[in-house]
Amino acid sequence: MIDRRHALMLGVAAAATPVLAASRKIATLGSGKVGSALGSAWIKQGHRLMFSSRRPETLKDFVAGLGANASAGTVKDAIAFADVVVLAVPYGALPDLGREHAVALAAKALVIDTCNPFPNRDGEVAAKAIARGPGLYTQDLLPGSKIVRAFNAISAARMNQGGRLTDGRQMAMPIAGDDDGAITLATELIKEIGFDPVLVGNLDFGKHLQPRLPLGGEHTTDEIRTIAKSLS
Ligand SMILES: NC(=O)c1ccc[n+]([C@@H]2O[C@H](COP(=O)([O-])OP(=O)(O)OC[C@H]3O[C@@H](n4cnc5c(N)ncnc54)[C@H](OP(=O)(O)O)[C@@H]3O)[C@@H](O)[C@H]2O)c1
Repeated sequence: MIDRRHALMLGVAAAATPVLAASRKIATLGSGKVGSALGSAWIKQGHRLMFSSRRPETLKDFVAGLGANASAGTVKDAIAFADVVVLAVPYGALPDLGREHAVALAAKALVIDTCNPFPNRDGEVAAKAIARGPGLYTQDLLPGSKIVRAFNAISAARMNQGGRLTDGRQMAMPIAGDDDGAITLATELIKEIGFDPVLVGNLDFGKHLQPRLPLGGEHTTDEIRTIAKSLS
């Protein structure tokens, strides 16, 4: 049996071809630059979104501008609403999210982890996440969640612009995860908003999905595959 990393090296499509075109209920935990960009992109594909804030009333005008498929709620409301959850908070918020919501999050079909640890912003938790690798550390904080790391190393401003490089070529999106069903669903959702998802490895490989590392920035699919093969 080949694992995903070897499948990548052999050029085998490790994630199943998406067959679903269902309208999903998606929650963004955090509705700042990343949550608002990704949520806006998925709204355009016909999905229903709940954007979370610790003060949901501050999102009133934003969700009104997105139409009837958008709403705002607390973190708890948004998790209860969704079958797909996007983590779009400072990494330092994840321990509290885990303590309060890990059981509810573990019931979701997919948890997309966009979060990056920065010691100067996130403190001690960032140092721990960097040492362990942020994919595995997010999993430690959210036991049982079906996590796929994605969108970690491109600018939020580019997340709802259709997945094209500045020269018009297709942009790839490196992803990492352990759960086949979650990977399949993430693949489908990421394709819908214009990116070519490339499974680069298991969740431990998520340590490479951070800004300023070789897989960071905007790349074609071939470039992502070549870079990923050079990493361990
Ligand atoms: N910005 C980028 O270009 C970019 C690109 C890739 C990945 N990332 C990563 O994505 C994550 C989000 O980045 P961002 O730029 O979107 O940040 P942001 O604009 O500062 O938004 C973060 C959101 O998280 C919410 N939040 C903060 N602390 C929270 C807590 N303790 N519990 C619940 N919600 C909390 C805030 O909402 P309320 O205050 O309204 O509750 C805020 O709207 C970060 O981990 C970042 O490293 C960012």
